Amino acid sequence: NNHLVIMAGGVGSRFWPMSTAARPKQFIDVLGVGRSLLQLTYDRFKGICLPENVWVVTNKDYAESCREQLPDVPAENILLEPCRRNTAPCIAYVSWRIKSKDPRANVVVTPSDHIVTDTAEFRRVVASCLKFAGETDAIVTLGMKPTRPETGYGYIQADLSTASPRNKEIFRVDSFREKPDADTATKYIRQNNYFWNAGIFIWSVGTIVNAFRVYQPAISKVFEGMERIYGTAEEQSLIDERYPECESISVDYAIMEKAEEIFVCPADFGWSDLGTWGSLLAESRKDLYGNSLIGDNITLFDSHNCIVHTMQEKQVVVQGLDGYIVAENDGRLLICKLSEEQRIKQFSENK
Ligand code: GDD
Ligand code: MG
Repeated sequence: NNHLVIMAGGVGSRFWPMSTAARPKQFIDVLGVGRSLLQLTYDRFKGICLPENVWVVTNKDYAESCREQLPDVPAENILLEPCRRNTAPCIAYVSWRIKSKDPRANVVVTPSDHIVTDTAEFRRVVASCLKFAGETDAIVTLGMKPTRPETGYGYIQADLSTASPRNKEIFRVDSFREKPDADTATKYIRQNNYFWNAGIFIWSVGTIVNAFRVYQPAISKVFEGMERIYGTAEEQSLIDERYPECESISVDYAIMEKAEEIFVCPADFGWSDLGTWGSLLAESRKDLYGNSLIGDNITLFDSHNCIVHTMQEKQVVVQGLDGYIVAENDGRLLICKLSEEQRIKQFSENK
């Protein structure tokens, strides 16, 4: 059976002050379409698996938001982390949990903060990768054609010389490198066999559990042998007790940079990670001067390439800015050069 895992426990710190620890971006209708990023993610996978095989992993603080926003997902499929440990422990937990219920599951894991414009093509690609992952021991990634030397993504070096005999769209990965520096990223994108990692992973549950056993034995030990309690009343209290033991590390460093049997399906379905203000500007409708105004009462004079965003009704007037973020939410105001936006996480912590 196909299963879907939605990771929805991030803080979205580079989207501050719209996204805050109290209400991260995945629960917000960032695009103004009447659905939050989390809901749009859920909608995108319709037809890939049954609602009973959809899992959401999030922080305890967001349990209510997840239940409210995804009423079709069974409450027991919303797994709650007692503390933040990044995506590797999150994936380990849900993988062992799925394995105890359906040892032959094929799983697609997705972030909850992306946009995809061609949903039909997206579903076709994911279905094709799920089939491949079910027939092999492959960890399958989706490769996006890079358009700039972005340092916030993982890079996949593909061996494009021979496609897999089972699936002509899928290639072996020579190396995976998470968030390289700008010089390295620039070198990568000059070659045609490097792709951005979309952050969406496809594997059989047995494959990922084995990869954790090999590359992350300490994390595996936490979830191994809990089979008895998965799905019972004891689960949450034991998770609360043991989960904090996990190292805080993303799956990209913990598994992807280390594992051997990695494959990539280069794909084009209009993907964007709404990770930063700049990415939202890129995806938004802009005026003649390249500005995107999101809010009810914003006026710009002599300004270019700016993103101005308000969450509450506030009159905002901006004059003479070029390439800036101006964002206001709930008593917090950010004015920051777009080119420095990777530092917003650090700025927001500096109260
Ligand atoms: N449950 C849970 N717990 N979810 C989490 C946690 C956590 O502790 N931390 C992050 N997430 C969720 C976020 O909400 C997001 O949906 C997803 O996991 C990915 O986390 P990000 O923090 O957004 O990762 P990233 O964007 O820096 O990097 C990843 O995605 C890129 C593409 O968007 C990597 O996979 C990169 O290699 C990739 O290029
Ligand atoms: Mg992200």
